[in-house]
Amino acid sequence: MENEAKKRNSFTGSIGFVLAAAGSAVGLGNIWRFPYLAARDGGGLFLLIYLILTLTFGFTLLTTEVAIGRKTKQSPLTAYGKLRKHWKPLGIMACIIPMIIMPYYCVIGGWVVKYFLAFLTGSGAQTAEEGYFGTFISDASSPIGMTIVFLFLTVIVVLGGVDKGIERFSKIVMPALVLLIVIIAIFSINQSYEDADGTIRTGLQGLKILFVPDVSELTVESFFTTLMDAMGQLFYSLSVAMGIMIAYGSYMKDDTNLSKSIVEIEVFDTGIAVLAGIMIIPAVFVFMGKDGMQAGPGLMFVSLPRVFLQMGRIGGLVGCLFFAMVLFAATTSAVSILEAVVSSFMDQFHCTRKTAVLGEGAIALILGIIVCMGYDNLYFELKLPNGVVAQILDIMDYVSNNLLMPIVAIGTCILVGWILKPKFIIDEVTKNGEKFGRKGLLIVMIKFVAPILLAVLLLMAVGVI
Ligand code: PHE
Repeated sequence: MENEAKKRNSFTGSIGFVLAAAGSAVGLGNIWRFPYLAARDGGGLFLLIYLILTLTFGFTLLTTEVAIGRKTKQSPLTAYGKLRKHWKPLGIMACIIPMIIMPYYCVIGGWVVKYFLAFLTGSGAQTAEEGYFGTFISDASSPIGMTIVFLFLTVIVVLGGVDKGIERFSKIVMPALVLLIVIIAIFSINQSYEDADGTIRTGLQGLKILFVPDVSELTVESFFTTLMDAMGQLFYSLSVAMGIMIAYGSYMKDDTNLSKSIVEIEVFDTGIAVLAGIMIIPAVFVFMGKDGMQAGPGLMFVSLPRVFLQMGRIGGLVGCLFFAMVLFAATTSAVSILEAVVSSFMDQFHCTRKTAVLGEGAIALILGIIVCMGYDNLYFELKLPNGVVAQILDIMDYVSNNLLMPIVAIGTCILVGWILKPKFIIDEVTKNGEKFGRKGLLIVMIKFVAPILLAVLLLMAVGVI
């Protein structure tokens, strides 16, 4: 019990908290998924809807979770039960989600390590060869080795603790990430390419696809699809409903301005997503045309290496910087997933940080190996209700993101909106006399709009609508 008496770890101040939370939010979702959705869903229109949702829906969920964390000073596993005894099962679910995500996130992180190393050692061109990605992920040992490297990196950071590990790491990596993304984006806009048939495509034309709303084919149905795409993306991008923001909120100092920090996280996350769009869309458009911008996170490992190859000699360097940047984004996210579980273990079982990290590290390792084998010995194809043909990784992604996360988010809205009442959150946000401009908005969102939108998202995921 000696541990219980110990002071809870905390971030040293507001910048540390914001950078760590932004580090969690900024990940593969921003870098690949956002640009691709924006290009597909009518460019500027998607952006506009996304921004409105960030300022309303995203803001509500983010504020609520951080406030729950700071108020209870508990991990996701124990926070809900502390608020209301009978709500403990929601906490268990909120802790299971990062436990499901962690293994497959490390596998994808391992793929990024592999590509980074390939470009670093000058063999980036190979990654653009037909079938390279498929051959690599179905290899018996290499993906497992890379997963271990990525997991090891994450474990080291989290072992360092909140201020000396997570905060210190985020303070170095996040500015580096911004710098790299800006450099590559500027480079990308300035590209141009002449096709075999003589058509010249430029980066600026590509940029138009991203920013100019394409309403030529807009229908009520397509508007609804865009709205739901934007909401699903936002939900995932802000790292809400998986316990992370509760864990990070519980390490936030009581005198930090909570609502100001939330605004900063929103700006950071959206800013990086838009910058990623400016970086990726023009480059893919210039070298591969509109057809190059097809669906799927796997395409980051297939299309982009070809784009780098087309760039000629400098492509090797750009590719190396790009995958370094993706690696930064992925590690800070993985660190937050691990921390959500570690804080839960520490609060529930009163164990040391080291025991919790090694315990969850071992679980992630075993499940991660099984995920890798899903492309090799354990390969199968399963059609999910949302139409995706899935392997083990996709199933884990579907269960956590499409099923459990909306359920936890709806549960949180009901608990806070109807049982504890929104005043609970407002009091926490304004406890040092801070101004809280979007108070009215939060009340309406958490009681009515957010749970309804989330329920629609959930019903869509299970294939009912
Ligand atoms: N929010 C991250 C992104 O936008 C993804 C993420 C998922 C982070 C799960 C943490 C946990 O890519």
